[in-house]
Amino acid sequence: MPMNKSRIVLVILALVLGIFLVFFWKGDNISQPDVDSRYKDASLSIEERVSHLLSQMTLDEKIGQMALVEKNSIHNKEDVSRYGLGGIVSGAGGKPANNTPEGWLHMVTEYGEISRGTRLGIPALYGVDAIHGHGNVPGATIFPHAIGLGATRDRALVEKIAQATAEEVRATGIFWVFSPNLDTPQDIRWGRTYEAFSGDPKTNADLGAAYIRGLQGTATGTVEILATAKHYLGAGGMQWGSSSNKDFKIDQGRTPPDEKILRTIYLPPFRAAIDAGALSVMVGLNSWGDEKISANKYLITDVLKNELGFSGFVVSDWYGVYEIPGGEYTAAVTAIHAGIDMVMLPFDYKTFIKNVKKAVRKGDIPEERIDDAVRRILRAKFAVGLFEKTSVGDLEVIGGEEHRELAREAVRKSLVLLKNQNNALPIDKNISPIIVAGTAADNVGRQSGAWTVEWQGIDGNWLPGGTSILEGLRRAVANRGNILYDEQANFNLANKAPIGIAIVGEKPYAEGWGDSDNLKLSDEDLEIIEKVKNASTKIIIIIVSGRPLDIKNESKNWDGVIAAWLPGSEGQGVADVLFGDYIFSGTLPFRWDL
Ligand code: BGC
Repeated sequence: MPMNKSRIVLVILALVLGIFLVFFWKGDNISQPDVDSRYKDASLSIEERVSHLLSQMTLDEKIGQMALVEKNSIHNKEDVSRYGLGGIVSGAGGKPANNTPEGWLHMVTEYGEISRGTRLGIPALYGVDAIHGHGNVPGATIFPHAIGLGATRDRALVEKIAQATAEEVRATGIFWVFSPNLDTPQDIRWGRTYEAFSGDPKTNADLGAAYIRGLQGTATGTVEILATAKHYLGAGGMQWGSSSNKDFKIDQGRTPPDEKILRTIYLPPFRAAIDAGALSVMVGLNSWGDEKISANKYLITDVLKNELGFSGFVVSDWYGVYEIPGGEYTAAVTAIHAGIDMVMLPFDYKTFIKNVKKAVRKGDIPEERIDDAVRRILRAKFAVGLFEKTSVGDLEVIGGEEHRELAREAVRKSLVLLKNQNNALPIDKNISPIIVAGTAADNVGRQSGAWTVEWQGIDGNWLPGGTSILEGLRRAVANRGNILYDEQANFNLANKAPIGIAIVGEKPYAEGWGDSDNLKLSDEDLEIIEKVKNASTKIIIIIVSGRPLDIKNESKNWDGVIAAWLPGSEGQGVADVLFGDYIFSGTLPFRWDL
């Protein structure tokens, strides 16, 4: 059938419209207003940039910024831009397929690029637990865990260590770390005792602030990397047996609701952290009284934000928000209402985004609260220069000589001499033979502890570039050949050796998996010690552990006892002091009864 005139006109119009669409319409501008990109101008003040950007954001874009998702839970990488996710977390052990510094840089850069591909191009923050160096990355410098740094009481050293950590982290394109840990453990049975500097609020405030200065840096005026003061608040004060997690005893437990104690023991390190400019604070998984901290508006909004004047953002801990009773909707509403700005979900984000949107529509969460949360997140993103930079530095810096030297210095300053009789210490390098044994002697994995490549660490002598304590001793005596080593202390000597060293302690553990009311040495370690003792005239015990151990019954039979904490990759620092090249200067971060 031939077309009539009006049909021909319609077809022509459709064609013209089609051509117009193909050439002139950029799909995402259809329903979105033009973007005013002044917020990308780094010469404006942070507050101006935040305001410009925030004023252009849709509700969906704002809610996306509040989601922090575990990278293994993002099955389709494009979801990062589709949902405009605010942050991505590699939980401990959340590694790339190619688990090398290059592999990390590649993975983080890819997520960064995807996140920039949105209408407004807001980069996602990538966060990791660099709690004793860039511990996720094989080949990074592993510094002593915080308990060892606490023993040094050396603010300047702690600041330098944080700086070095920031350099290694930034080289992999990451600008956010979940440290320092500012908990003040009052019960060493807690599996996180070693993550804290000490059991004393003042030390934790001092060293925590130094650590934040080191990470965030101030020299150039811009923030180098975002620190996270954690875990707000009362972590370390939980009661034994009160954990909300059936597998744990004290971790994620209940801190008694005594406000005076809260303010005198647990709050001071956070006050110092805020004064030092910390831009994020992580809320703990514990409860205060019967309420999970992440639901506690008084502590998060009234005390932290209003009273202490914290202007950065508050992030919740691993799945913590969903431990608030009442189901996912109520939990999200309660946490955001309490003052959580970014929610570490970490597995699901679609339901969270849907629920928060519904809550805003229903009036269960006022839009001003969303704006406040996003403003805080954007403020930190601008402060760290996330819109301007991708990776900073050179991968060569990771595990570099200078950082390893610094770690070695930290190890020697962290050693605490618990006992020295019969002039057992220092040891003469020329004495022969020196017998060495023990499960922690030649075991870089054990001396590094947990949060090293894997969440629970890896027991065994591995870790590229690390030096075991035994190897350090061998190097210290150079070619003298006077060190005899057998892990199990099966020595067949005609005469007793003048010195025997047993290096023993705890296997790696993280979080509640380390909760324990048995802090004695293992039977295996005690047996080794016995054998060393029978084979030597004087015996020195080096304890590698995340907390003071119960050695009351045995220590009277030993000549020397050294607390080495979890020294990390540079075991050589132990030999430095053992042979008297340096003096013992560490002081106890927790009480240790002999
Ligand atoms: C820990 C936090 C850590 C987070 C991310 C949680 O299990 O409690 O300290 O930052 O995981 O890995």
